[in-house]
Amino acid sequence: MDKNIVWHNYAVEKTHRGELKGHKPVILWFTGFSGSGKSTVANALESALHQNGVHTYLLDGDNVRHGLCKDLGFSDADRIENIRRVGQLSKLMVDAGLVVLTAFISPFQAERDMVRELVEDGEFIEVFLDTPLEICEQRDPKGLYKKARAGEIKNFTGIDSDYQPPVAPEVKLNTGENSLEESVQQLIDYLKDKNIIK
Ligand code: PPS
Repeated sequence: MDKNIVWHNYAVEKTHRGELKGHKPVILWFTGFSGSGKSTVANALESALHQNGVHTYLLDGDNVRHGLCKDLGFSDADRIENIRRVGQLSKLMVDAGLVVLTAFISPFQAERDMVRELVEDGEFIEVFLDTPLEICEQRDPKGLYKKARAGEIKNFTGIDSDYQPPVAPEVKLNTGENSLEESVQQLIDYLKDKNIIK
């Protein structure tokens, strides 16, 4: 970093913004295969939180790749850069006092840990969509597994690109067995139990 660039401290800090909103800022980091239910659960949880007056923002892989990360593909290096950018963006949103929900495959433990290290203890909540690859492939909501099996998409997660399941996620969701409502309730219970929301 340029040594002529200095850090400015602000008069209004994260705790002040959080107090104003009446809940703690955190990142709910959803990770799992394509088709595991990340976007669906994150979207439903955001709706439930929003209705309860929680200030949220949802960052979703497909959407972020239309703008901030539109120059990135699916090589390991590009996925690492994708998560680095989203991590930094999420950190800014936590600083703004928001409950940030992110829905990215985020296949590598090292990058998920890197984001965890960006924020304070308890502010990073790793949510593992523990949906087996076979179920994701059966669902194939976008027809991408079919294309990947046919060799039309290279580096597809679970087919010819690695996915490292979380070692110690704060929350594990089983969307194969539980309903969407049950998964959302499990997350709301976790947030209440940790005094993040009321
Ligand atoms: S990553 O690994 O975290 O950088 O990926 P992410 O930004 O979440 O983007 C995943 C979505 O991109 C689509 N897509 C692919 N996924 C995996 N592998 C390959 N090669 C690929 N190509 C396109 C796919 O729609 C993913 O969305 P989800 O919501 O996970 O199904």
